[in-house]
Amino acid sequence: MTDSQLVQEAMKAKEYAYVPYSHFPVGAALLTRSGRVFTGCNVENASYRLTICAEQTAVSKAVSAGEREFAAIAVVCDTDDYCSPCGACRQLIAEFGLNTRVIMANKAGDYRVRTIRELLPGSFTLK
Ligand code: THU
Repeated sequence: MTDSQLVQEAMKAKEYAYVPYSHFPVGAALLTRSGRVFTGCNVENASYRLTICAEQTAVSKAVSAGEREFAAIAVVCDTDDYCSPCGACRQLIAEFGLNTRVIMANKAGDYRVRTIRELLPGSFTLK
């Protein structure tokens, strides 16, 4: 699975986004170290704060399937800018390893890559 293929998977997941309030669809595709891919989209709610981000969906699907070691996560939005995970999602991704690569894509499918360590320096830890 290449970075470009993972972005394509995230784009497909974005089509399922439930976004009646923001009209801002986001897709994510998480590649585990074992080679499995878990996709996700954002799921909004009339009680706005209950909204689930695309990355949360993908990470929760992976962890609930027994996967905790992640190689990379692709995130894509319908924007010209690269899609950058929110602070909460950075903390969520960091929970499972600081070396996870984050592939941030725009609507054209162009992307840039950073590690979660680079995106969330000094992340909260209980250790
Ligand atoms: N959103 C994500 O899915 N991921 C992020 O990292 C940031 C924001 C969603 C939440 C909401 O449904 C929409 O984007 C607008 O904030």
